[in-house]
Amino acid sequence: MLDQAKNQLLTQVGRGTPMGDLLRRYWMPIGATSEFENESIKPVRLMGEDLTLYKDMRGTFGLVDRHCPHRCADMSYGFVEQCGLRCNYHGWLFDRDGRCLEQPYEDVAQPEARFREKIRITAYPVQTTAGLIWAYLGPEPAPLVPNWEPFTWKNGFVQIVFADVPCNWLQCQENSVDPLHFEWMHMNWSVRLADKGGKYSPRHLKLAFDEFDYGIVYRRIREGMSENDPMWKVGRVCLWPNALFTGDHFEWRVPIDDERTLSVTWCFSRVPKHREPYAQEQIPAWHGPVRDAETGRWISSHVMNQDFVAWMGQGTIADRTREHLGTSDAGIIMLRHRFLKDIEAIMCGEDPKATIRDPEINRCISLPIAERKRLTEGMSLEELAKHPLGLGQLTDYVFQAGQPREVRKAFAAAMGIKE
Ligand code: FES
Ligand SMILES: [Fe+2]
Repeated sequence: MLDQAKNQLLTQVGRGTPMGDLLRRYWMPIGATSEFENESIKPVRLMGEDLTLYKDMRGTFGLVDRHCPHRCADMSYGFVEQCGLRCNYHGWLFDRDGRCLEQPYEDVAQPEARFREKIRITAYPVQTTAGLIWAYLGPEPAPLVPNWEPFTWKNGFVQIVFADVPCNWLQCQENSVDPLHFEWMHMNWSVRLADKGGKYSPRHLKLAFDEFDYGIVYRRIREGMSENDPMWKVGRVCLWPNALFTGDHFEWRVPIDDERTLSVTWCFSRVPKHREPYAQEQIPAWHGPVRDAETGRWISSHVMNQDFVAWMGQGTIADRTREHLGTSDAGIIMLRHRFLKDIEAIMCGEDPKATIRDPEINRCISLPIAERKRLTEGMSLEELAKHPLGLGQLTDYVFQAGQPREVRKAFAAAMGIKE
């Protein structure tokens, strides 16, 4: 349980709030580079700030205020130039650093006033890594965009999946350190959704949570498992500060504002051996729905949609004064304590947990991966089809509803299977 003040402290993400300032110390994924193949501008809301993400004609990404500093027109209806983004109202042009490069009328009517030198638009650094567009809203110097090990893997088909989830980010992230829900929310609920008489899945018998440099590892023993099982020996990762990492995919919970979260998945599927060497030309990105258009209820057919049901069900901002934590929630308690410590750390001028500044370390940051062999060495199609995790992916995209036909097609072509 948290008191009301602590609940507010951990859930508010606006600029100037303690948690908002802490989250601004990290790069956040806000889009995919492939979204900008046919579009050049996208409005973005990130941690309560309304922004405009664009790719100019030279191919450079920029992230600036949603509103023009002249008379507040919507920059997401502007247009890009060779360098920067131009407001469509009176043509002021801004570069990615926020400098005003042109004020077409002022430049002619009163050039000596050098008005544009006094004007700046709020602008934030943007970088691209692994097909994702990352933004940094914190103080300089910015840390490095983490180069997680899977971003360096070859012979994989990657897809990026978004969902707009109407609740606060923290309840989404607490799910990243809650292994028990896997048994009930995914296994047993899916059994019941498919067949009311189905048998429940093996129960969890033992859980462990260990903090490490880049997050918290959680480990589990379920009925029928030995202590040699990779789920106990290696486990899975609640990745700092706002992601889950399972080995083949990352799920970031990016705060849009206090009441909405952008779910961003980066999912790697190793191609079968006979398809190697395989180089993906373009990483596709798609947005999945959370609500069933026919029934008006939340979608429950896919793994992450089931998670969304849990998160949204806790309320727009979960009221943690009403909760009753048990021993299964030890990881959640650990996560909250660590955030509170990090809030203090940044107030003392220190870097928070998992800040990466050393380029040598960032060449490739390895993480605990229970399924390492399958992902880094590959398998034949037959082995993959027999593998409990491989099979699901061969037959359908199990994580989220709404995969577009063309992505399924590209996936099937990469894997060498029928659609
Ligand atoms: S409002 Fe943007 S140029 Fe005038
Ligand atoms: Fe889950």
